[in-house]
Amino acid sequence: MHDSIKSILSMSPVMPVLTINKVEKVEYLFEALIKGNIKTVEITLRTDCALQVIEIASKNFSTLQIGAGTVINESHLQTVKDAGASFAVSPGATTTLAKKAIEIDFPFLPGVSNSSDIMKLLDLGFKSFKFFPAQAAGGINYLKALSGPFPDISFCPTGGINEDNAIEWLNQKNVICVGGSWIVPSKIKDYKEITNRALLASQLIK
Ligand code: 3PG
Repeated sequence: MHDSIKSILSMSPVMPVLTINKVEKVEYLFEALIKGNIKTVEITLRTDCALQVIEIASKNFSTLQIGAGTVINESHLQTVKDAGASFAVSPGATTTLAKKAIEIDFPFLPGVSNSSDIMKLLDLGFKSFKFFPAQAAGGINYLKALSGPFPDISFCPTGGINEDNAIEWLNQKNVICVGGSWIVPSKIKDYKEITNRALLASQLIK
C-alpha cells in the first residue's frame, strides 16, 4: 500500500488537479490530457458530479491513474474506492483516515505541512506525502529544510505551483512529482490548449 502510491506518482512529473463542474463532454478533457502524455490526475471531491466523473474516467481511460482528491473522511475513502479510483489524496490527514486507508488497502497520499504531521504518519508507515499548500506553507526553502530530518520522505507539492515554478520544485531531491490546477482552467474553451499545456508539463524533467 505504502509503496504503490510512490510508484503511481512517479509515472508523470505533473499531476493535474481537476475540479470538474459538469459531466457533459468530460471524455474530451481526459482525451486531451492523455494526448498530452499525462498519466495521473487528481479529481477533487469539490463538486456534485465529482464521483460520477471518477466513475467515467476510471471505466473508460485505463491508461490514466485516477486519483480522488479532497478526501477528508473515512466514508469518502470507501466511496472513491468503490467508484473506481486508483488512489486517494487528502489536503491533510487524521490518524483515523490514514488507518482506514491501510485497513482497506487503498493507495493514499495524505497531506502534510509540517514535521509533526509527517511524524504522525511515519509511525503508520507512510513515506510519501502531498505537501500542501506548498507555496503558502513555506515554499521550496521549507521543503528543503524538511529533507534534513526526513531524508527518506518524498513529496508531491501542491498549491501555488504553476508552469513558471514547477521545474524548480521538480529539481528538489525529495519531490516525486508536483500537482496543480494550472493545466486545466475552470472554464474549458479549447481542448487543444489543454493538450499543449499537458505536453509542456509532462516534458518537465525530473
Ligand atoms: C489542491 O487541491 O491541491 C489545490 O487546490 C491545487 O492548488 P492550485 O490551484 O494552487 O494549483
